[in-house]
Amino acid sequence: MTKVICVAQRKGGAGKTTVLVQLATALGEAGRRVALIDTDPQGSLGGWMRLREEAGGGEVPLRFSAVGGWRLGVELDRVRDAVELVLVDTPPHAEAEARGAMREADLVLVPSQPSPLDLWASRATLELARREGRPVRLLLNRVPARGRSVGEAEAALAEMGVARLEARLGNRQAFVTAIARGLGAVESEPRSRAAAEARALAAEVAALLG
Ligand SMILES: Nc1ncnc2c1ncn2[C@@H]1O[C@H](COP(=O)(O)OP(=O)(O)OP(=O)(O)O)[C@@H](O)[C@H]1O
Ligand SMILES: [Mg+2]
Repeated sequence: MTKVICVAQRKGGAGKTTVLVQLATALGEAGRRVALIDTDPQGSLGGWMRLREEAGGGEVPLRFSAVGGWRLGVELDRVRDAVELVLVDTPPHAEAEARGAMREADLVLVPSQPSPLDLWASRATLELARREGRPVRLLLNRVPARGRSVGEAEAALAEMGVARLEARLGNRQAFVTAIARGLGAVESEPRSRAAAEARALAAEVAALLG
């Protein structure tokens, strides 16, 4: 059965679109049939997709559509039969849209940088998912290569009773340059640490969804 993953975070710039792109390309590389739906009027994911088409489409086939949040249900019905996984990007600061997308989700992923301010700001989104009764996992993103921030963030999350993924994405230029080329890190730098992190994320998400 087709599974829907919603990437949501009320805080802007936490890495929703970056995470979605890296996850989608890694899932595609692993042989999953994936569709992406952008419900963010900023259209960041659509911008990446346009670059991707100009660059020849990438190695991994991905379906893409952009819809207003209120049309998500209709769009999901349209793509459901064609793919195994649908990844939905959502706008920041838009509780109604985020809630609508979460309602459709088999898994809500909430990216956050590993700092106290970012983790506190994540609570609103985590709470929203919980209220919708959807499985939710926090994903630490932009984790610095050095320092204590991860250990401290993980301890804080445990204290808050927040379920997180074991996988995390580092603060890596490879993610940024891949996106600038319309690619995922698994395509642009397949032997990089960034690519390895994206694959670990994809494996953990796929295992969670069964
Ligand atoms: N793991 C990462 N490593 C390096 N840079 C990152 C990483 N994740 C995100 N960024 C950078 O952080 C910025 C915000 O990322 P992104 O646009 O993915 O966040 P977002 O949550 O989708 O933002 P918005 O709320 O505006 O939709 C971008 O400049 C992106 O390149
Ligand atoms: Mg975004």
